[in-house]
Amino acid sequence: MKRVDDFRLKFGKKEFVPIMVGGMGVDISTAELALETARLGGIGHISDAMVPDVSDRRYDTSFVKDKTRFYKANIDNADKSIIKFDLGVLAEATRRHVEATMQAKGSEGLIFVNCMEKLTMNGPRETLQVRMASALDAGIDGITLSAGLHLGSFGLIADHPRFRDAKLGIIVSSVRALQLFLRKNARLERKPDYVIVEGPLAGGHLGFGMDWAQYDLATIVAEVVQFMKTEQLDIPVIAAGGIFTGGDAVSFLEQGVAAVQVATRFTVANECGLPAEVKQDYFRASEADIVVNTISPTGYPMRMLKGSPAIGAGIRPNCEAYGYLLDGNGNCAYITAYNREVALHPDSKTISVMDKTCLCTHMRNFNLWTCGHYTYRLKDTTRRLADGSYQTLSAEHIFKDYQFSVDQKVALPE
Ligand SMILES: Cc1cc2nc3c(=O)[nH]c(=O)nc-3n(C[C@H](O)[C@H](O)[C@H](O)COP(=O)(O)O)c2cc1C
Repeated sequence: MKRVDDFRLKFGKKEFVPIMVGGMGVDISTAELALETARLGGIGHISDAMVPDVSDRRYDTSFVKDKTRFYKANIDNADKSIIKFDLGVLAEATRRHVEATMQAKGSEGLIFVNCMEKLTMNGPRETLQVRMASALDAGIDGITLSAGLHLGSFGLIADHPRFRDAKLGIIVSSVRALQLFLRKNARLERKPDYVIVEGPLAGGHLGFGMDWAQYDLATIVAEVVQFMKTEQLDIPVIAAGGIFTGGDAVSFLEQGVAAVQVATRFTVANECGLPAEVKQDYFRASEADIVVNTISPTGYPMRMLKGSPAIGAGIRPNCEAYGYLLDGNGNCAYITAYNREVALHPDSKTISVMDKTCLCTHMRNFNLWTCGHYTYRLKDTTRRLADGSYQTLSAEHIFKDYQFSVDQKVALPE
C-alpha cells in the first residue's frame, strides 16, 4: 500500500516531500509553522495579509498606531476614500517579515508567501505590486497568488530581477480560471511553476458560490490534469481542500497531482498562530458547528465555526487602522452594512450587523474562526487530557502522519 513518502514533488532538479502547508492569514500560518514544514522537507507558507500588523506584533514596529494617528480625524467619517497605505511602510513591513523568516531557514525545504488579490487596500495595483516585489527582494522562495483571478499580477512584477527564478504559483478552483490566467499572461512567456487546485471543502474563502456543495475536488483536479496533458504543459498540479489523511493524499497523488496542500490539520499544531483556547474550539467542533456564509465583505463565501465572535458583531469599521478590504474607491461591504444598521437604530448604543463582518478587525483579533470542512474530525487526531481539553500536536507529528501513514489511519500523539 502506497504512502505519501513514495512520491516526490519536483521543481527542476530539486525534490520535496509533496506536502505543502497552505497560507493562513493573519499569521495563523506563522513563520514557525512554515519553518517546521520546510525543515521536514516540504513547502510552508507565511501570509502577507495585514503584514504591517504582523510586523508590529513580531518585530515591535508601530505601523498600525502610526497609520491610525495619521487618519484619526477621519474615524467618524463614513467616507473612507482618503485612507491610503504608505507604500514605503508596506514594503518595510513585508521585508521584515519575509527576511526574518528566510534568515531562520536552515533547510532545503521551501517557504512561500500567500498573496491574496482580494486585499485591495484602497489601491489594488500598487499595493499588490509592492507586496510581491518586497517579498522577492527579501528572498522569499516563492509566491502563491490566491483569492482572486490575478490576471494582471505577473505583469506587476515582470521587471523584477527574480521574476523568472522565484517560484510563482496560483490557486484556482476551476479549469476555466486557469485558462483565463494563462491566456492573459501569454505575452510574458512565463508560466506558473505550480497550480494549486482548491476545492469547496477548504478553509478560508471559497472560489465557489453558495452552490459550493455541488462541486468536488477530484473532478476539478481531473479536469485540470487533463487540460495540462492536452496543452502539453508540464506544470505541477497541487490538490487542496479536505485532504485530511495520508490516505486521502495518496489517492490524489495517484490521480496525477504532484503534491497536496493542507491546512486544517495544522490549525491545532503548537506552531499555529491561533490562540490556545481557539484551538480547543476547533477540536470541540462538531459537523453542525461549521457553516459556509457570506459575511466576508470580499464577496466570496467563507467557511467558519458558527461560534465565531465575528458573526453578528457590529463594531465601528476600523479602516483608519486597517482598511485592507477598501476597494480603491474607499468602499467595503461592511461599511455599507454597518451604516445601514446605524441609520435603522439611531438610538442604540450597540448594534448588530448580521450580513457582513469587519473582516480585518476580526481576523486580526482571531475572532473569525475560519476552518476547513473536516474540522469536526480534528478531535480524532489527538488525545483528550485529564482536564477534558485536547492535546495540541507538533507540526512535525502532523506532517509525518501525512507523510508516512497508510490507508485512512491517523497516528495519535505519544
Ligand atoms: C484557518 C485557515 C485560514 C486560511 N487562510 C487562508 C488565507 O489567508 N489565504 C488563502 O489563500 N487560503 C487560506 N486558507 C486555505 C488554505 O491555505 C488551504 O488551501 C485549504 O484550507 C486546504 O484545505 P484543508 O484546510 O481542508 O486542508 C485558510 C485555511 C484555514 C484552515
